[in-house]
Amino acid sequence: MQKNKTVVIGVTGGIAAYKALDVISRLKKEDIDVHVIMTEHAAKFVNPLSFQSLSQNMVIVDMFAEPKAWEIQHISLAKKADIMLIVPATVNIIGKVANGIGDDMLSTTIMATKAPVVFAPAANTNMFLNPIVQDNIRKLKQYGYKFIEPDSGRLACGDTGAGKLADTKLITDTVISMLYDIKDLKGKKVLVTAGPTIAPMDPVRFITNRSSGRMGYAIAEEARDRGADVVLVSGPCSLNKPLGIKMINIKTNKEMLDAVKLNFETSDIVVKAAAVADYKPKKYSERKIKKSEDQFSLELEKDTDILRTLGSIKKNQILVGFAAESNDLIENAKGKLEKKNLDYIVANDIKSQDTGFASDYNKVNILCRNGKNIPLEKMSKRMVARELFNLIMKKR
Ligand code: CTP
Repeated sequence: MQKNKTVVIGVTGGIAAYKALDVISRLKKEDIDVHVIMTEHAAKFVNPLSFQSLSQNMVIVDMFAEPKAWEIQHISLAKKADIMLIVPATVNIIGKVANGIGDDMLSTTIMATKAPVVFAPAANTNMFLNPIVQDNIRKLKQYGYKFIEPDSGRLACGDTGAGKLADTKLITDTVISMLYDIKDLKGKKVLVTAGPTIAPMDPVRFITNRSSGRMGYAIAEEARDRGADVVLVSGPCSLNKPLGIKMINIKTNKEMLDAVKLNFETSDIVVKAAAVADYKPKKYSERKIKKSEDQFSLELEKDTDILRTLGSIKKNQILVGFAAESNDLIENAKGKLEKKNLDYIVANDIKSQDTGFASDYNKVNILCRNGKNIPLEKMSKRMVARELFNLIMKKR
């Protein structure tokens, strides 16, 4: 297991300050330790208590407040940080750092840290595009500070243009990929399936499996951030399309099979996290089936076991399956690993509380072809993905 990483977040005084809450909540879900420093102006936009509750750490605003421990706080946080993220970053903080000014808790911590510092600016368009601000940004970039460029759009002040805080998911993903800067999948093609498939019985009804798609998407994003070329074959789910990933949307077992077969030969690693429907209605009715009798029975026939098909044709690909079990977890998963000719299987107990399906967390065992069983503690789905690739890349 890796040691938890620490991100120190600086929140400055802009209308986008509330969006920093979402960034913190996303980082916390990845088991990252978060400390927050707010400027006094930021504390006028959002109450520090919200940041304290989400980060589960004391929030520092006043540099001269009585310290809780005998440490010089801006120095201790500056040392503790694996990354400092300033979100939102006003033109004021950018200007201060670019000119070496340290006159409050946040600016002194930025000046004192040796960790990478990332700015996610948000400002009125004219302020952001002001040549003085642009010069400051250029200067900071030359010193190695990183920027997550703001989007263009309608701003809180009513103007339209550049200056809108970048998407909070993009900000979080950028920080995570900097924290775990391993590019061990560079040059590899990773094929991932996620979400459910559906088996229609008429134009309005279908049978399906429960699946939010979260586990598969986390795997695809982890592979992308480690440098892989990623193809994600996804059944219908409500998650946003991840950036930098080739996405193929499918609905049925047959569509997933076709998409997977098309990409299988050229893939190095294939992870099948999808909840594929095992049976489909024997007859599809072109017309909506009308209710008539009190009883209605539907005849189902077996559909393709996609993973087993891949296992039977695989050459050098590393093949990973998932096993969702309600009983005899290890025994059932082992059986699937052998029957489907897999290299690894990720087994999760669907009866365990607060993990699985719609949760951001999972508690799994990873079984290996050589008989090894690796039980992981409860962790975020992204962490499960990280542990899986660590194992595949022999980093564990
Ligand atoms: N799988 C597949 N095609 C299917 C069924 C499952 O590719 N028709 C894959 C899943 O994506 C998963 C693994 O096989 O990686 C195991 O799926 P699971 O539903 O746990 O097992 P099944 O083989 O369907 O067996 P059972 O439903 O009897 O537990």
